[in-house]
Amino acid sequence: MSTCPIDAKVIRPIRFIAGQCQMLDQRLLPAEEVWITYKTYQEVAEAIKTMVVRGAPAIGVAAAIGVWFGVRDLETESTHEFFQQMKEICEVLAATRPTAVNLFWALERMKHFAESNLDRSVPELKIGLEFEALAITQEDEQANRKLGQHGEHFLADGARVLTHCNAGALATAGYGTALGVIRAAVDNGKKISVIADETRPFLQGARLTAWELQRDNIPVTLICDNMAGWLMSKGEIDCVIVGADRIAANGDVANKIGTYTVAVLAKEHNIPFYVAAPISTIDLKLSDGSQIPIEERDGREITHLKELQLAPEGINVYNPAFDVTPHRLVTAIITENGVVEGDYLTGLRQVVNQR
Ligand code: MRU
Repeated sequence: MSTCPIDAKVIRPIRFIAGQCQMLDQRLLPAEEVWITYKTYQEVAEAIKTMVVRGAPAIGVAAAIGVWFGVRDLETESTHEFFQQMKEICEVLAATRPTAVNLFWALERMKHFAESNLDRSVPELKIGLEFEALAITQEDEQANRKLGQHGEHFLADGARVLTHCNAGALATAGYGTALGVIRAAVDNGKKISVIADETRPFLQGARLTAWELQRDNIPVTLICDNMAGWLMSKGEIDCVIVGADRIAANGDVANKIGTYTVAVLAKEHNIPFYVAAPISTIDLKLSDGSQIPIEERDGREITHLKELQLAPEGINVYNPAFDVTPHRLVTAIITENGVVEGDYLTGLRQVVNQR
């Protein structure tokens, strides 16, 4: 297993200390930097559900860690029983959030590891699953660094790049996907400035993207979501880069609510619209985006800002957390195994199956 650079300045939202993990509570950023310690799979499931940890790849990493914590507490010596109980643990973790496929991808990978090693003893399986969870964590950051290098040539020196939500280090094991491409361009000596949509209602852009780019000294300007079209019409955006929660086989992309609107605006203004995601985000089992389950969240996210009431008591609210951008609006999909443009059906299959 190769390692990622160790650098105290690098943002990693999940860290390991003596068989426990700590997650940076993303609900409290940017006002407070609080790390919460987790020891059990139930606690990890709660952290995913309540969005202490969020962002598709980070959710996948957290789920794998949850499985590791769950199986190490199992008392059975029978591998058959061990596997049955492991599957129940996976079900609890799978029931946390429905849209990001990385969660289910990570659970499948953990189950596949156990199933292919059922001839081993229970203690050996436990150690193997710990290593698998740590490998998933490390590989995610490595994938982001690679996809950053594949995608950075799309950003010219001086580019003004719009992004939506947070597809940064905080949304992954480290480095980020959309922000990984931006970081790679900056690392390669380009001057890049970022325009961050605030991303109502959970404000991942205002709270998280703005926080992590400012921390890395990458110029960032925060706008409200409804300002993007105006900036585009004035020629102030050169390209858009976003992350993804699930990409169907035909290239349709589920991402944070509001992404579709940005893609339509980009098309109208002839601005390239890029999606950056590791192959763990690609779901070849779904032929198109209409099959992607869209999470609906509590209406209170819209009617309230913490304790502040923004809308009348009892108002009807609809709060879908994601939308689907049709592939025809996507200029290219940037992965760690290469860039896919044009024929997504063939290209996505190739990058997923590449060894
Ligand atoms: O609800 P969230 O904050 O988990 O949604 C996150 C997003 O939509 C991100 O853009 C996506 O997961 C890509 S993260 C690399």
